[in-house]
Amino acid sequence: MKTKLIDKLSDISRIHRRAAFTDVLKHTAPKPSAFLNLAAERYSCRGFDARPVPEEMVESILEAARLAPTAVNRQPVHVWVARSAEALEKLGTATPYIYGAGLVFVVGCKPADAWVRKYDGKNGAEVDAAIVGTHIMMEAADLGLGSVWVGSFDPAALASAFPELADWDVVALFPVGWPAAEPSSNHASRKSLEEFASEL
Ligand SMILES: Cc1cc2nc3c(=O)[nH]c(=O)nc-3n(C[C@H](O)[C@H](O)[C@H](O)COP(=O)(O)O)c2cc1C
Repeated sequence: MKTKLIDKLSDISRIHRRAAFTDVLKHTAPKPSAFLNLAAERYSCRGFDARPVPEEMVESILEAARLAPTAVNRQPVHVWVARSAEALEKLGTATPYIYGAGLVFVVGCKPADAWVRKYDGKNGAEVDAAIVGTHIMMEAADLGLGSVWVGSFDPAALASAFPELADWDVVALFPVGWPAAEPSSNHASRKSLEEFASEL
């Protein structure tokens, strides 16, 4: 039974890869869920047009972020919204990867507030922040917006530009806006399901 499911998923995975995530998805069986379609369609968007993102969409992205699960529900994560010309300019001192977006979500975590695994002392703050960031990207995609996870920034430059971030470890920046760039070739390049997942 399990093997059959893996085979079926593997077939779907192959079709998705061949089609570079186009609408062939809807011809696969079993019918992909709305979430699977969204996951296939979301891509790292590295160019945005000038139209502003409506306030309701900003709020809906923040709500999706707020609802993200965290270890032991510690919620050691904070999200900042950068969209003033001044804030965007300051972000630009820490990274060249804002891609002209007029809206950037900044996700930070506080390890001191996070769950720590007793067996080996591993701190859960970054994992919690990563889930929050994923919710941001997926809600943006569901709203028809583009986004990209930006991990390449200079933390020291960010801290000096924004003293209010002093107590936080910034995990990622998320430029968000109306998509004006196609996916890179990376988007259609994933390990096969056979390589990616296996039975224990
Ligand atoms: C942890 C992480 C850090 C990333 N950092 C950057 C970055 O600094 N700049 C960038 O342009 N893309 C960044 N990306 C986007 C990845 O390059 C992209 O997700 C990957 O190549 C797959 O492409 P896709 O998102 O279009 O499917 C990052 C993604 C992740 C998950």
